[in-house]
Amino acid sequence: MSSDTAKAIHLSDYTPFGWQISQVELTFQLAPKATRVTSKISFVPNADAPSQEFFLHGEQVKLIWAKIDGETVTPTLSETGLTCDVPQGAFIWEAEVEIAPEGNTALEGLYMSNGMYCTQCEAEGFRKITFYPDRPDVMAPFTVRVEGDLPVLLSNGNPSAQGDGWAEWTDPWPKPAYLFALVAGQLEAFSDSFTTASGKHVDLNIWVRPGDVEKCDYAMDALKRSMKWDEDVYGREYDLDVFNIVAVDDFNMGAMENKGLNIFNSRYVLASPETATDLDYARIEAIIAHEYFHNWTGNRITCRDWFQLCLKEGLTVYRDQQFSGDMRSHAVKRIEDVLMLRARQFREDNGPLAHPVRPESYVEINNFYTATVYEKGAEVIGMLKQLVGDDSYAKALDLYFDRHDGDAATIEDWIKVFEDATGRDLGQFKRWYSQAGTPRLDVSDDFNDGTYTLSFKQKTPATPGQDQKEPQVIPIAVGLLNPNGDEVQPTTVLEMTDAEQSFTFTGLSTRPVPSILRGFSAPVILNRDTSADERAFLLAHDTDPFNKWEAGRALAKDVLMRMVSENTEPSAAYLDALRAVAVDETLDPAFRALAMGLPSQDDIAQSLFDSGVTPDPDAIYRAAKRLKRAAAQHLLADLPNLYGQMACPGPYSPDAKDAGRRALRETVLSLLSETDGGAQAAVQFAAADNMSDQLSAFASLLSVGAGDDAVASFYDQWKDDRLVIDKWFSLQVSYAAPEKTAALASELTTHKDFDWKNPNRFRSVIGALSMNAAGFHDPSGASYTFLADWLIKLDGANPQTAARMSTAFETWRRYDADRQGMIRAQLERIAAQGGLSRDMGEMVGRMLG
Ligand code: ARG
Ligand code: ZN
Repeated sequence: MSSDTAKAIHLSDYTPFGWQISQVELTFQLAPKATRVTSKISFVPNADAPSQEFFLHGEQVKLIWAKIDGETVTPTLSETGLTCDVPQGAFIWEAEVEIAPEGNTALEGLYMSNGMYCTQCEAEGFRKITFYPDRPDVMAPFTVRVEGDLPVLLSNGNPSAQGDGWAEWTDPWPKPAYLFALVAGQLEAFSDSFTTASGKHVDLNIWVRPGDVEKCDYAMDALKRSMKWDEDVYGREYDLDVFNIVAVDDFNMGAMENKGLNIFNSRYVLASPETATDLDYARIEAIIAHEYFHNWTGNRITCRDWFQLCLKEGLTVYRDQQFSGDMRSHAVKRIEDVLMLRARQFREDNGPLAHPVRPESYVEINNFYTATVYEKGAEVIGMLKQLVGDDSYAKALDLYFDRHDGDAATIEDWIKVFEDATGRDLGQFKRWYSQAGTPRLDVSDDFNDGTYTLSFKQKTPATPGQDQKEPQVIPIAVGLLNPNGDEVQPTTVLEMTDAEQSFTFTGLSTRPVPSILRGFSAPVILNRDTSADERAFLLAHDTDPFNKWEAGRALAKDVLMRMVSENTEPSAAYLDALRAVAVDETLDPAFRALAMGLPSQDDIAQSLFDSGVTPDPDAIYRAAKRLKRAAAQHLLADLPNLYGQMACPGPYSPDAKDAGRRALRETVLSLLSETDGGAQAAVQFAAADNMSDQLSAFASLLSVGAGDDAVASFYDQWKDDRLVIDKWFSLQVSYAAPEKTAALASELTTHKDFDWKNPNRFRSVIGALSMNAAGFHDPSGASYTFLADWLIKLDGANPQTAARMSTAFETWRRYDADRQGMIRAQLERIAAQGGLSRDMGEMVGRMLG
């Protein structure tokens, strides 16, 4: 279907389905080319719905027969489903359909991955399995019988019966079809158990391919900690006898919270010290937690329609962030989350794909699993918590679970529990859900006679379809420091509600230095004319770890931007501040590593654009290199010592403490490499006994152009490990010199291990290319053409992953006329393809605007 014929769906058009379902029974007879699915569904008229035609979704399913109350019927079939005359009251629908999992390269519905059957139904994949009202507000208990010649046959809920070649599963909890799952294959389990707070025994299994069982212990540990944490912090217990997780190699996204049967991209389950980095471990912990937490925020309480996606995703991201902070370091986690938010969500908010946390229309819902819905959705909850306070937040959440358990709920329901729990009117706050764009917050200050005044102006730029923005409620956490570095005003949250608003602090003896937006209390861009001295002062003295880091980051950004636009030398003040942080042993190594990092080149490009300068990716790349070399020279005397100090003796442990030391050591190694041509990195690469050390050495070698031997030996060592070879592909492309990036990526796509239908592998080359800023924007335009060629090719097989990757082009209007012209030509070339998917059609259409 092409983009001009695909219809937009609007939030305002919501109507409930005309029937409810009291019971679903499914039988699967598995076969790669022709799986038969028999369904028996009990429909009951929905008294709350307007009367309507009976419509069941169904796509790419072949109807064999259908019956109503035992009598054969002949429905009217279309590309998207069927309609049928049905009785007035309750009735039983039965049907048999045929589907072909083996040919399913879109990885949506029932598909095969390395001989194993698995499903992905969120958002609208169940309609590729059988005819059904595939919408989240239709919830039902399911019984599923799986027949197949495979040792492991899984579905949702509890196992209820099994025999030779078949198994039956019963899920007592009513659920929408998007939470349905089935897995069948030659799998082995890593097993454990958990006893809930009320004493219920739960069997835990992580199902993987034989050989991978020894890589499951960390994921299992993370699962048990998640279960315990959700009891302790949110009072939420698990509600089935068994919790199964399956790792699959071919998966479009990260993971999926199917009831009692989570399915994961194997990269977010499998880990061993030799094959996974510290970052991999941290992500596994976070994603295991995320999917587990969905059992309450998503499954027990689901979404009425897909516009409400942030109801479950924003809240569940918020919960997994809290969890990771509790498990590791809140300060470090907050900095990492903000880095991610700015890199992905601010970027989205500033371009043609900007949309509200709760969008009001879409063509293809898969295109809205975005940083805005997820990460900004989580920020909105963080703001709400700051505004009402921790106790009221806990009260509101209890009320939410009490009131809405078993419901398909809306953002209105969510806001209402906070209003009811606190007596506050949150009408204005709700704009965070409906207005797109990142608010700009301008600050000025004044000191007069002991009174310090902070004046703020908020302004949100126009975004597609939203020219005018109303003022939002912005919680601004502020602290004040004395010039001697003492805190005179501890953190207080100012509540800004107007377009312009001032706040005063009285009784001060000297003009204070303000620390504004502590903890990044709101997802806004703070503009304040500040001197480098004041930034250096905050970097040295701020008691708020986020703002301490932020001060250093702002300093680095100012320096880098001036180096790009005025061709200045790296500032000595910055280099001194950098050194002070690097050697400050009172600071957590993880924090020091983050504080020593430079802003990304994409971040600099966006900031230059915001300040009215057309960014030149090549100039940014060169300035970043120059600054890194200057930093390496400036710290030269300290680096070897610091490198030695941060070694982690003893066996590898993925815990936050060791990971932080390795992160700092990695930063040091990458600086050292600028001065020794990679000599130390080569030593570390050869000696490494864990993937964090090996990969950081590999990266350093590549980054100074000394990686040839490592490229060969790394491949030899790891050629049988898919997840490690993904790293091998992606690192080479990430560190390629700008003018060589497209050619290298193109050469790698001819490598015998380049399997373009595997999303991880596709991303490891084509995704890495789009994130190598200077390489992607090389003036030849070679990367643009290369990306477009691959998007067109992948769109024919896997529209969802192709459409997602097309966001590489979303920043195109920042750049000069030549680059814009070349990108426009590629976008238009994609748009002109016959048979373009609805996914890609919508994305390209929005980007071309
Ligand atoms: N609900 C999943 C998660 O965030 C994401 C699944 C998205 N899948 C999709 N095809 N859009 O945990
Ligand atoms: Zn989620």
